[in-house]
Amino acid sequence: MQNLFAMTTDERAAFEEFRDDLLAVLGQAVANERDRDIFRLRLERHFVDLYTPLRRLYADHPGFAAQIRLLGERLVQAFAGRATDLKLLDLEREMTPDWFQRPTMVGGIYYVDRFAGTLQGVRERLDYLCDLGLTYVHLMPLLQPRSGPNDGGYAVQEYRAVNPELGSVGDLVALAQDFHGHGISLCIDVVVNHTAREHEWARRALAGEPEYLDYYLTFPNRTLPDHYELTLPEVFPDFAPGNFTWYPAMAGAGRWVWTTFNEYQWDLNYTNPAVWGEMLDVLLYLANLGVDVLRLDAVPFMWKRLGTNSQNQPEVLDLLQAFRAAMRVVCPATICKAEAIVAPADLVQYLGVGERSGKLCEIAYHNSLMVLLWSALATKKADLFTHSLRTMPPHPATSAWITYVRCHDDIGWAISDENAEEIGESGYLHRQFLSAWYSGAFPTSFARGAVFQFNPLTNDRRISGMTASLAGLEIALEQQNSPLVDLAVRRISLLYSLIFAYGGIPLIYMGDELGLLNDSSYLADPTRAEDNRWLHRPAMDWNLAAQRHDQRTLAGRIWSGMRHLIDTRKRTAALHSAGSTTPIDTGNLHILGFVRSHASGRVVVLGNLADSPQHIGAETLWRAGLRGEIRDLLTPAEPAIALAHDRLLLQPYQSVWLSGSQGSQA
Ligand code: GLC
Ligand code: GLC
Repeated sequence: MQNLFAMTTDERAAFEEFRDDLLAVLGQAVANERDRDIFRLRLERHFVDLYTPLRRLYADHPGFAAQIRLLGERLVQAFAGRATDLKLLDLEREMTPDWFQRPTMVGGIYYVDRFAGTLQGVRERLDYLCDLGLTYVHLMPLLQPRSGPNDGGYAVQEYRAVNPELGSVGDLVALAQDFHGHGISLCIDVVVNHTAREHEWARRALAGEPEYLDYYLTFPNRTLPDHYELTLPEVFPDFAPGNFTWYPAMAGAGRWVWTTFNEYQWDLNYTNPAVWGEMLDVLLYLANLGVDVLRLDAVPFMWKRLGTNSQNQPEVLDLLQAFRAAMRVVCPATICKAEAIVAPADLVQYLGVGERSGKLCEIAYHNSLMVLLWSALATKKADLFTHSLRTMPPHPATSAWITYVRCHDDIGWAISDENAEEIGESGYLHRQFLSAWYSGAFPTSFARGAVFQFNPLTNDRRISGMTASLAGLEIALEQQNSPLVDLAVRRISLLYSLIFAYGGIPLIYMGDELGLLNDSSYLADPTRAEDNRWLHRPAMDWNLAAQRHDQRTLAGRIWSGMRHLIDTRKRTAALHSAGSTTPIDTGNLHILGFVRSHASGRVVVLGNLADSPQHIGAETLWRAGLRGEIRDLLTPAEPAIALAHDRLLLQPYQSVWLSGSQGSQA
C-alpha cells in the first residue's frame, strides 16, 4: 500500500472511488485471483500519474466524470482480454525494465509492402532480419488507411484493422509471435494526432452529428482559423498549404476543419476527453495484439493554442503521461516512442524531465543528432555538433533515444539560430548551405538529394534522399570512380558507427545495410508523384541482398561493415542507454568526439569528418578519461594504441570506439 501515501487527500479520495468501482467490475471480468492482485497493485502504483494529468486537462469538462468511469471499464476489459503469453511478458519486463536500453537492441525500419509484399511475406523474410542481427523492427504504417493518397499510411481509416493489402489482424498477431520467438520486438505506428477523413468519426462529424463534430477542430468561418494561422507554421507548404480545409457539405452549412498535414488528415480535438479515451482504447487494443513499441505519430501537434505554433504545448505532455500510466496498468510490456521532430530544447521533454521523469514515452527520435551528423559531414567540422549536443539536457536514465541516420521522412534543418551563433555562424545561412549541399546544388557537393517543401516565405528547404545517395555513392557510381565509391562507403559507415555508439537504440533505415540508392519510380504513381519523400522509400532489392555475404560486392562491403558495428555494439556494455553521452572538443576541428560512460565502463568515440587523414594529440584521450592500454573496440585484433607516440591518426572518415584497460574516471 505504500503508493497510497504519496497521494494528496483529494487524489486518495478519487483513487478509492475509482478503485472500488473497478474492483467490482474486475471481479466479474477476471477470474484469476493472482491476475486481479497484479492489476490492483499496478493501479495503485500508477493511479496518480494517470489521474492527475487527466484532471488537469479535463476537470472542467462536463463529460469528465463519465469518462473516468468509462476509463475504468476500458482498463479492465483490456486487461481481461490480454493473452497469457503477453501477461508473462509484462511480468518479465517489469522485472527487467531496462530491456529496451541494452546494447543488444539494434533496430531496422521496413515498409511491409516494399520489403516483402505482405505481413506473411515478412514472416518468410525473418531470416534476413535475423541475419542482420536486428532485435527491434519498425514496420511502417500498416493499419487500414484511406484508399487513394494516404501519406504513406499516415491517414488511418480504421485503427482496429490491418491494411487488407498487407494482411489481417491475425497475420499481425502471428508475426509478433514469430518476432518474439526470434528475440525481435515489433514496433508499429499509431497516428494519434489525426485520422483520415474517411474514419467513421470523421464521417459522422461531416454528417453533422454533434458528438462527433466535437472529435475534430472545426470552424464555421475564417475568424479563428485566420487568428491561428498568424503563428502557425506549415508542414507541407508545397502540396498542402495552410492548416485548415473548407468542407462545403459539412454539417449542412460547411465548416473549416483543422488539417495540419494533408487535407484528408483531420486533426483530433484532444480538448474533448472522449477523444483521449478512444485513442487510449486503440493503444490498448494494439498492445494486446503483441506489439512491443507503439510509435506515436506527430505528438507535438496534439494540442493547439492561439498565438503559438501549436506544437509542444504542455498539455501534450499530460496527454502522453496519462496514456503511459494507463498502459503500465494493463500492458506494461508495451512501451511508447514519441515522434517529435522538434527543436533540441523541446525534444527531451518527450522522454520526461523534472517531475515527469520516467512517466512519459520511453523512447523518442533524436532528431537533433541526425541533423547534426549530416551537418558535420557536409562541413567536415565538428563544432556545431559538439556545441549543440553539449547544451542539450540529459534524458532520464530510464529512457532511451532512438538514434538514426535516415528515416522515411525528409531531413528538416532543425538547427537553432542560437546554437549556430554561438559558434560564429548564421543559422539561416547554414541551413541554406545544408539544403544546397544535400540537394546537390552546391558545386563541390558529393550528395544527390531533392528539395522537399520549398517554402518561399521562409526560404526553408528540407531534403529527401537515401543515405547512400546523400553520402555520395550515387554520383560516385555514376562516374564509375572507385576512389569516390570508397569514400562514400566510408561516409555511410562513419554515420552508422556514430549512431551505433551514441547510446540509445540505433535504427537502420531499410536498404541502408546494402547501400540502396534513391528511387525515382514513385514519379510514375500519381498518388505519390508530388511527394518526393518516396525518393527514399525504395522497394527492397533482393538481388542485391543475395550478394550480401560476398565481400567483393559493394552491397557485401556495406553489409559486413554494418554487421561488424552491430556485433561490436552488442558486446559493448557502456552503450547501455542508462549511461550518458558527452560530446568533447578533440582539439582537431575535423574530428568529432564524444564520451560514452556508464557504470560498466567508458568508451571514447571519435570520427574523422574529413576526406584526408587527421590526428589528435594523446592528451585528448587522457582528458576524456582513458587510462592504461587503449584499444579500438572496432579493430580488436589490432595491437593497443601506442600513445607514447603522442598522437592518434585517423584515416579519412574513420571512426574508433576507444576503451582503456584500466578503470577510467571522469
Ligand atoms: C509523421 C510521419 C510523416 C507524416 C506525418 C503526418 O511525422 O512520420 O511521414 O507525413 O506524421 O502523419
Ligand atoms: C515535419 C513534422 C513532422 C513530419 C514531417 C513530415 O518535420 O514536424 O512531424 O513528420 O514534417 O515531413
